[in-house]
Amino acid sequence: MIRLGILLSGRGSNLIAIADAIAAGRLNAEIAVVISNRPYAPGIEAAQQRGLHAHVIQAKGLTREEHDEEIVRALKNHGVELVVLAGYMRLLTAHFIRAFPNRIVNIHPSLLPAFPGLDAQKQALDYGVKIAGCTVHFVTEGLDDGPIILQKQVPVLEGDTEETLSTRILEQEHAAYAEALEMIARGRVAMEGRRVSISECDPLTVRHWK
Ligand code: GRF
Repeated sequence: MIRLGILLSGRGSNLIAIADAIAAGRLNAEIAVVISNRPYAPGIEAAQQRGLHAHVIQAKGLTREEHDEEIVRALKNHGVELVVLAGYMRLLTAHFIRAFPNRIVNIHPSLLPAFPGLDAQKQALDYGVKIAGCTVHFVTEGLDDGPIILQKQVPVLEGDTEETLSTRILEQEHAAYAEALEMIARGRVAMEGRRVSISECDPLTVRHWK
């Protein structure tokens, strides 16, 4: 079973969705550890309530490299095979990325490459797009820039506010993350350059994917 290390900075709804997908048997994985850079992140409390290993590793007083080194050490100590960024509000250093080659994923609340960075939902609304969505992608050194694994679209409706659109996108995020992680866990995800391909289900998984 693939061992996930989840990094977050805030609310933790994606962490909860992943934990729920595991509990429901939709995701064949194990959450080895949850790490937050913020001490009072609600996500860390949610992790503790579920009996998961949860650590706070603050950046205060450390260089970016030192902070990342501490996190990498903790992830390795917990035998993490796939690092899952779930609302982790820091850019990873090259050192971190090299420690888990092609083994770090992120979710972003837009259809990348449109609207990277902060407030993606507001950016989409202000731009006037009619279709928004979310993207699960591998993490590279560029901001929200890595190869795309899966995207889900969401209509922008008349009268949408940043809040209503964000809520609609978040629902799809929760589904998308569990789906993408399950595909990785099943070994169905391959990468060539920027292009990620998803292989067909093997006979053992057909039942699961119906
Ligand atoms: C999500 O919108 C995610 O796409 C973005 O940060 C937010 C995290 O939300 N990267 P949560 O903490 O998982 O609820």
